[in-house]
Amino acid sequence: MNNDTRTAVTIEAIGSYVPERRVTNDELAQRVDTSDEWIRSHTGIGARHLAEDHIATSDLAVKAALDAIERSQMRKEDIDGIVLATATPDFVGFPSTACVVQEKLEMIGVTALDVVAGCTGFIYGIEVARGLILTGAMHHVLVIGAEKLSSIVNWEDRDTCVLFGDGAGCAIVSGGGDAEAERGVKETILYADGRGSSSLMVPKGGSSAPLRDTTVAIEDVTISMDGHEVYKFAVAKLGETIKKLMDHNDLTVDDIDMIIPHQANIRIIQAAARRLRIPMDKFFVNIEDYANTSSASIPIALKNLEDEGRLAKGDRIIIVGFGAGLTSGGSVIVW
Ligand code: ACO
Repeated sequence: MNNDTRTAVTIEAIGSYVPERRVTNDELAQRVDTSDEWIRSHTGIGARHLAEDHIATSDLAVKAALDAIERSQMRKEDIDGIVLATATPDFVGFPSTACVVQEKLEMIGVTALDVVAGCTGFIYGIEVARGLILTGAMHHVLVIGAEKLSSIVNWEDRDTCVLFGDGAGCAIVSGGGDAEAERGVKETILYADGRGSSSLMVPKGGSSAPLRDTTVAIEDVTISMDGHEVYKFAVAKLGETIKKLMDHNDLTVDDIDMIIPHQANIRIIQAAARRLRIPMDKFFVNIEDYANTSSASIPIALKNLEDEGRLAKGDRIIIVGFGAGLTSGGSVIVW
């Protein structure tokens, strides 16, 4: 296909994978001073899936990618690139987790790169893929959000350990011609504010604080979070991004079939819904079963929606997220 005949960038298939091991709130309460009641009432989380120790983020990503490929009409050979969003790479610095995934998928030669944008990573990844497709460089790109957050969680810290889960999701993003012109990603908004970087971070292990130079404490190499700061940012940006996308695209609430927000905390979604005066039944929520899987949460939710028969070709949806960076973003997509 020639670049100038490419009028749409569509999501052709969606796949996902979560580890089998499911850990309930009650099980966590045996480990730290918490309770099912506290976790549910403060976050909406009921359980999370956690990977075994020997499993890496790339293993989760490969399973989600194979699921997406199987659900599509495509063969691996049709795919030109892998864009992988993760906050939990297999290695610090290099090689990229996308390269590890490429090798495991036996897709040697295709472009492979990581995107680091916290929980907004999947949306950043979709936009990177859209750009690569619109320049004519690629036809089909795997956009993967994959996380083994359990590997950077301090299991003694009740403030954070109850919030996260492991998993992966993958979209096959494709260039289309006039026949698909009505479908695809209509607009994406991306935002980043580095002033908030310290409110959600892993403090040490990178070039600013190499582990070689320090005595490592568990707090240094696990998630450190100012929950209140992240909460305020999340509610504001969720609302602002949805509103901008609706305004720019002349959409009313009735024009939107479903909003799929990043699944971090049900209260964040409820607060944004109240601000926007959009009923909660427009928001897809599955946080109860998976907790916060960061960049994997939106593609896992998309696949759940599709499996439940609630997402069909032609549906108009908004995906929207926020996360470490601090970053936020959203897209209007006609499925
Ligand atoms: N179990 C029991 N009690 C707890 C727990 C727990 N797991 N965690 C905290 N508490 C206690 C606190 O110690 C505090 O006790 P105190 O009043 O005696 O001091 C009390 O509960 C209230 O704590 P708060 O922090 O005020 O609780 P809040 O209602 O604000 O909820 C939460 C905390 C859930 C972290 C909330 O602030 C939040 O969701 N923030 C956003 C987090 C987020 O979305 N992070 C992910 C971003 S995406 C990414 O990029 C990874």
